[in-house]
Amino acid sequence: MLYFDDAYAGIMPEDYAQYAQKVHDAHTHLHSTKMAMSGWVDYPKKISDAYLKSILLAAEQIKSQSTVLVVLGIGGSYLGPKACLDMLEDEFLTETKALKIYFAGWNLSGTYHHELLNKIKDEELSLCVISKSGTTMETAEAFRLFKEVLIKKYGEKYNSRIYAITDPQSGALRKEAEENGYTAFELESDIGGRYSFLTAVGLLPLCAAGYDIYKIVQGARKAYEDCLPADLAQNSAYRYGVGRRILNERDKSIEIFCVYEPKMQYFLEWLKQLFGESEGKEGGGLFPSSLVFSRDLHSMGQFLQEGTPLFFETVLSVNSPQKDIGYEGAQRTLNEQNELVRKAVLQAHNKGGTPIFTITAEKISEEMFGYMTYFFEKACAMSCMVMGVDPFNQPGVEVYKTEVKKMLSVK
Ligand code: PA5
Repeated sequence: MLYFDDAYAGIMPEDYAQYAQKVHDAHTHLHSTKMAMSGWVDYPKKISDAYLKSILLAAEQIKSQSTVLVVLGIGGSYLGPKACLDMLEDEFLTETKALKIYFAGWNLSGTYHHELLNKIKDEELSLCVISKSGTTMETAEAFRLFKEVLIKKYGEKYNSRIYAITDPQSGALRKEAEENGYTAFELESDIGGRYSFLTAVGLLPLCAAGYDIYKIVQGARKAYEDCLPADLAQNSAYRYGVGRRILNERDKSIEIFCVYEPKMQYFLEWLKQLFGESEGKEGGGLFPSSLVFSRDLHSMGQFLQEGTPLFFETVLSVNSPQKDIGYEGAQRTLNEQNELVRKAVLQAHNKGGTPIFTITAEKISEEMFGYMTYFFEKACAMSCMVMGVDPFNQPGVEVYKTEVKKMLSVK
């Protein structure tokens, strides 16, 4: 479903071979039950029919009672569903859908939230609030704001329009959901935000938007099987994860994710969070960045060809895009031209000395999205583990959250 190619990365079999033992040990540890927050590893296998049915039920309820669903969350509680919706939706038709989905709480802009509330003022509204900890300030503030709107609009029945996804036991949101009778889903205690797409975090918004969550799960299950061997030669996710480390050791400190399909733009944001938050620790890690081509060939192309050689590229493309178009007398369709540019840029940048990984998806679909998220999670976990950092914590983010809380408590 997803083809990884390192032919342009300048990495030899003997370079990978040096990592074989480390990969084997990391794999054993990752698949044991000993590693904290590794619940996502076996999750594709564990996800039950009853859980999926409860999501379908909630999505049906959302659709029957609303014309707008506002999804509130930030970081791992936002980027997955946003990236998936952006990839699957026809962006020029989203405004005409029976249920429109908007995201909030991922920023604190008064303008953004004012304009959003103004836009949806006459709509039938439901909220999906996502917060593992239940205490993240941005999400909590936006939730208070939108909850006030719900209460003014629907009175005491406001609670039947709130869908909360949070830790099964701890946190303010869990407590509030129980006290007020919101529909609540569990974000398993041993799954962290950026590894949570396959839970209700990703599945509920996607299901409400009309997508087939069984196919998403099916894709993740396929990736689970494909990413199961401990052997680097048989596991592309591990090969990519280790390849990144080898290039980092060769003084490449930036990984640039590139796409030629604008629908994948937000998927790059998801990737940046996954890798940045998992790997950027103890003074190390690759800085993940992103570019969308052709747009950025005409802004960053010069730097990529001749600038400071600090980076390598990971180019994501799609074999059979959803749609294509040409015009009478055209020699090639737009997709054919896009592919031609991709191949030319690959040659040009590689000639300029840039190592390049290519990762090609067969097509864009629910199944593929499920596959890709699991593939990159597995690659990221392996990359971090061979580097010697814990992929599943984020102590640096917690520092900022604590500072914000301190400042908020000062009158
Ligand atoms: O990946 C992570 O753990 C983080 O990015 C969190 O998802 C983010 O900080 C939001 O946290 P929470 O879901 O607790 O509100």
